[in-house]
Amino acid sequence: MRRPVITGNWKMFKTRAAAREFFDALLPAIAGVDHCDIVVAPPFTALDAAVEAARGSRVAVAAQDLHWESEGAFTGEVSAPMLADAGCAYSIVGHSERRQLFGETDETVRRKIRALMDAGLSAIACVGETLEERESGEAEATVRGQLAGGLAELTGSGLSHIIVAYEPVWAIGTGRTATPDVAAAMHGVIRDAVAGRFGSAEAEALRILYGGSVKPGNIAELMAQPDIDGALVGGASLDAASFESIVRYPAP
Ligand code: PGA
Repeated sequence: MRRPVITGNWKMFKTRAAAREFFDALLPAIAGVDHCDIVVAPPFTALDAAVEAARGSRVAVAAQDLHWESEGAFTGEVSAPMLADAGCAYSIVGHSERRQLFGETDETVRRKIRALMDAGLSAIACVGETLEERESGEAEATVRGQLAGGLAELTGSGLSHIIVAYEPVWAIGTGRTATPDVAAAMHGVIRDAVAGRFGSAEAEALRILYGGSVKPGNIAELMAQPDIDGALVGGASLDAASFESIVRYPAP
């Protein structure tokens, strides 16, 4: 049985004080929840406040990105050992906003995943096609290519430190969620690609999240799909009450 994971990606939102406020509201509200893992990814500047606020709770903290070198003359960058030192358990890699706006490639995703493994952290590796790729029938090939490139160095045992997030670019921040059927079909493709490379037992154990306009109102139908093991939530993770109802998807 794969344990579900609900992850909030705050993107470039929230100060340290706002992060503390969020945890002050969320933690008592989810005290009895134990059906899923919960991860929150604040911006770098609020990582410390979030780690401190979440200490002793069931919420793990993730970064949103990292550099693949452990240190060096890379102005503006943050490394995996630094994230580990800050108390992060995960980092998101390959988010489509990084791919589209900041030059992230499958090759940099591969290096970042290796850096996370070396530092003892886990990766939430994002894949997903653009609208043009979907409309021209290339969605599956795009996602298979991103997986092959990003996971190129990984071994079967490393796979247990990876969560894959399928985020169709056309569904991110647009209010246009993939239907549960469309999402489930691509989750099946991802599991099949991983089975081909690592074996079917490994693929069965892999957690695959859906992301793209996940809200309290659509989480239950998405989570009802057997291949959807959780969600990567952007906008709707910023408000503690909204994130709480997503976390509580079986009994909203
Ligand atoms: P959204 O973002 O939920 O605001 O669509 C999801 C994401 O980019 O991870």
